[in-house]
Amino acid sequence: MTDPTRATVIVNADIPGPTISRHLYGHFAEHLGRCIYGGFWVGEDSAIPNEGGIRLDVVEALRELNIPNLRWPGGCFADEYHWRDGIGPREQRPRMVNTNWGDVEEDNHFGTHEFMALCELLGTQAYVNGNVGTGTVREMSEWVEYLTRSGSSPMVELRRANGREEPWTVPFWGIGNEPWGGGGRMRAETYADLARQYGLYCKDHGDNVLHRIAAGASEGDVEWTEALMRAVDQLTHDTFPVLPFQSVSVHYYTIGGTWTAKGSATQFDDDSYWRTIVAAQDIEPLLRRHIAVMDRYDPDRQVGLALDEWGTWWDVEPGTNPGFLYQQNTMRDALVASVHFDVFHRLAERLTMANIAQTVNVLQAMLLTDEATGALVRTPTYHVFEMNKVHQDATCVPVHIRAPGAVQQVADRQVPTVSASASVVDGRCHVSLSNTDLDHAVEVDLDLRGGSFTDVTARVLAPSSVRDFNSAERPDQVAPHPLDVTVTATGARLTLPPHSFAIVEAA
Ligand code: AHR
Repeated sequence: MTDPTRATVIVNADIPGPTISRHLYGHFAEHLGRCIYGGFWVGEDSAIPNEGGIRLDVVEALRELNIPNLRWPGGCFADEYHWRDGIGPREQRPRMVNTNWGDVEEDNHFGTHEFMALCELLGTQAYVNGNVGTGTVREMSEWVEYLTRSGSSPMVELRRANGREEPWTVPFWGIGNEPWGGGGRMRAETYADLARQYGLYCKDHGDNVLHRIAAGASEGDVEWTEALMRAVDQLTHDTFPVLPFQSVSVHYYTIGGTWTAKGSATQFDDDSYWRTIVAAQDIEPLLRRHIAVMDRYDPDRQVGLALDEWGTWWDVEPGTNPGFLYQQNTMRDALVASVHFDVFHRLAERLTMANIAQTVNVLQAMLLTDEATGALVRTPTYHVFEMNKVHQDATCVPVHIRAPGAVQQVADRQVPTVSASASVVDGRCHVSLSNTDLDHAVEVDLDLRGGSFTDVTARVLAPSSVRDFNSAERPDQVAPHPLDVTVTATGARLTLPPHSFAIVEAA
């Protein structure tokens, strides 16, 4: 019998892999439930401290995460959003119905200028998602011009009239969202042609170079990815030297049940927990299948893969609007995130962007807020993003895990319970370690090869129960703490408690 409580994690710090793009730590904020309204945006008249209507404690908490990019305004909402409704004096802006999310009225008080102000406050780059489902090529093209052009043009004059002289920088541009579903119910070939057309008219103005992202597959639909890659391939071989879009996206949500019965975010049994961990681990073979298709068409890796929606999706909290997708967040969610990041790091050569859904008050959020009380809560997932931010733009290095006993039988599968990844930057090596076992601690021998590391420290997220979560009453029930580490001749030794996540720094 092998000992289930021991693992050796070998890190080859001198074998550089791909750069882990900081954009793998991207975010997503949709006009959905209380993400924008009541989350980021409280309005200028709110008693909650704000700058121009944007809630400042939210900004302050998120700045600690070094958010690299923020995707907006949707999601499904993007394909019914008409940007001209969200500019000009707020009280005069037209209203609309948010048919996707709760059928509530949208007053358009948070629009283009407010979003760009939010990006500036967060110190993040804008990822604007345009409307293909109910929009036009001209509408999207003019939005790009409004945002990014300088000098004199109809859209520049309109922007100036609304108080903004200089153009903004908008690096990322989405061409629609989920066109196979709520974004137009299209066939892959139809959308691929539209993506080429829209991509063409979303111009680079002045110094602003757009990275255009074609709306990609649902989960494992590799045929969709193939249709997009074929569209790039044909075009670049035919007449145009430039790519119509620089990335294709894919969406994958982790659910521990079924789409019709997803289960509670906080009250779950061990079976549901393990189904969730398996679903989280399944992101790796799924992404590899998409990458295999891309490799066939694009061996030089000119086109990136963007997982621009990911995260857990549970039943909404009891008593909340079913269309608002408000859910609590436990240590289970944190482990879903840490397992995902290990996969992202391994696939960083092709996977260049990922966006958690969503940043505030929706799905696997970083922050939960209450506008009435002013409360702000950092979730367990927030802490994984904070602890792991050291990997942003670092060089991925190979990790091998020897832990033959650290497995869990889930239905007919043997599921490894230790997950890890590592990167190096400026002579320091960072190792992420997750122990998904519910009952056993794991003693980890960290074998740090290819460098001389004498100073090793670690922090751990290890609540007493995997069902623990943070709330206004107990905001730090799940929070990181220093973890004891013993420096050894080959690296370091430490003990990962059950259901825990740790970040190790070796210098
Ligand atoms: O994130 C919630 C929704 O999930 C998005 O609007 C949509 O793109 C996806 O189906």
